[in-house]
Amino acid sequence: MLSLLAAPAVAQPSDAPQLSETRLLRRITLRLLNRPPTHEEYEALLATPTAGRAAFVERALDRMLASDEFRDALVAWGLEYFRVAEYLPEDGPMIHNRLIDLAMCGEGTPHAGAFHTIRDGDAICTDASAPVRTLADPWFDPGGSVRLVGDAGNEAINVRDAAGTERYCGDVMFGGSVYNVQSPYDGCGCGPHAVFCDRMTRGYEDTRPQVDHSLRRSIMEEPARLFAHVVAEDRPYSDLVTGDYTVVDQGVFAIYRAQARYLGDRDHHDDTWFTEFPDPTEWREVKISRLNRFFLDERDYRFDPRTEAGSPRGVPSAGVLTMAGTNSTFPRERVRAARWMEIFACKEFNPPSPDIAFDPYQTDPAREGSCQHCHQGIDPAAVFFKRFQDRGSLLAGIGPMSLSSLDPRDDTRERAEGAFVPNTLMTPITDAQAVANPDARLIDFLADPDATLLGERGDGTIGPLGFGKILIESGAFDACAVRNAYERFGGRELDPGLDARRIAMLASDFATTGRSMRALIRRLLVAEEARLGY
Ligand code: HEC
Repeated sequence: MLSLLAAPAVAQPSDAPQLSETRLLRRITLRLLNRPPTHEEYEALLATPTAGRAAFVERALDRMLASDEFRDALVAWGLEYFRVAEYLPEDGPMIHNRLIDLAMCGEGTPHAGAFHTIRDGDAICTDASAPVRTLADPWFDPGGSVRLVGDAGNEAINVRDAAGTERYCGDVMFGGSVYNVQSPYDGCGCGPHAVFCDRMTRGYEDTRPQVDHSLRRSIMEEPARLFAHVVAEDRPYSDLVTGDYTVVDQGVFAIYRAQARYLGDRDHHDDTWFTEFPDPTEWREVKISRLNRFFLDERDYRFDPRTEAGSPRGVPSAGVLTMAGTNSTFPRERVRAARWMEIFACKEFNPPSPDIAFDPYQTDPAREGSCQHCHQGIDPAAVFFKRFQDRGSLLAGIGPMSLSSLDPRDDTRERAEGAFVPNTLMTPITDAQAVANPDARLIDFLADPDATLLGERGDGTIGPLGFGKILIESGAFDACAVRNAYERFGGRELDPGLDARRIAMLASDFATTGRSMRALIRRLLVAEEARLGY
């Protein structure tokens, strides 16, 4: 077996004994699969002649790395890693998905088993004269059908209101509470293939993400699923932050489509994407731009609201950084920046020492007061996350593409105007520019010539992809990936000071060999160090 490093930065306990092959198999299995070997796996090892046991353990390691069980363990690791899904009993976050909720008519009512909108209310179930439609191929049951009672059965995409104005039926709104999403227009229902609606088969607890197979749970699992996919399929690990693809199940696809409609993408009603998901629980790889065309495939899209009129066409897709689940869990740009810097650059934000004197804080936490101690590192990252809407219990999506398109009373506009203060590092525009064009506040790349993030200036790509590129370019991403992998598979935490050389060497090898996390994990598990122990 190869030694991991010729010159370990910390003294190894050289007198530590080598683990026996049975102990080694146990260690590797625990680290990869979160369980000890089975009785049969031990038996097979012991049936192997002593001389062949080391090779047996390596073969077992390769089988494990290729197994579905390893992929499941990666999903579990990913859930911890991204701290997105909060599967707490009872108090998971209440999240809405922009789909009209359908409730089921109960047993003993004339329409038992049919679904109705919350706007129509339970009363419609007992109204035998209410219209019922059987809709073939609803998005949530391709090849099947669903019975819809009352307004729910209307398939219109557009209707005319009393004043003759054409209205779009996918313009859903909240009817008093987070559960009560409905179309504001008479004559609108679930639309073709029921794309505007989703069933609440288990009642309101479906709005909580800890429920198995709920749409909310899926959307919170998306980051961990992409993580597991990237590692198991041996894709470059950097695809997590700069990739233009993700993995989705049927429900996640539907949610992104709802987001796209909300942003004005209304040309996709003939698209039958759902036929690709006969099994609603299956996760498949898709281009992010297929889910929502406002996530761009271009890898270097630029838009400068100080000098360009109108709005950008969207923001480039960027793996977990542009996901609905992460952007909802980390609401607002500075919170997103801080979490991603912790997760992908292994940064910690600790208070400054009390004996450091700072100038007074006035308006810019990145440059003034004790605030700059943390914010000079956070705000240049926060810039990139401005165009993701903070919608409280809603799923955050991209938008608004322009502030001026929003009603001045819209809380998104009000908050952006309060948070994006001119003449700050995060909003590098003058007061005059903010007056001339309110959208100049939405600058989402490092525009200030003095601003750097992790020592890099960036290439002007807007949105989270610009941030992801800097993470990679700076080397912080690779060093942090190596530290995380070492902690989990190498058996201990690496100290950024004491183990600096080891981290640098592992990170550089990682970067020059295609950022294969699988190869790194394997390497850590076959290293001599992995065999030491008591
Ligand atoms: C110890 C590091 C640290 C210091 C010092 C610090 N901050 Fe922060 N600040 C953070 C972090 C980290 C976040 C992101 C929030 C989170 O972690 O959830 C943040 C978030 C914020 C936000 C956004 C809040 C939101 O929820 O959107 C504002 C505004 C802010 N800080 C202002 C300041 C000001 C003003 C000062 C100085 C008076 C200051 N901060 C000092 C670390 C710091």
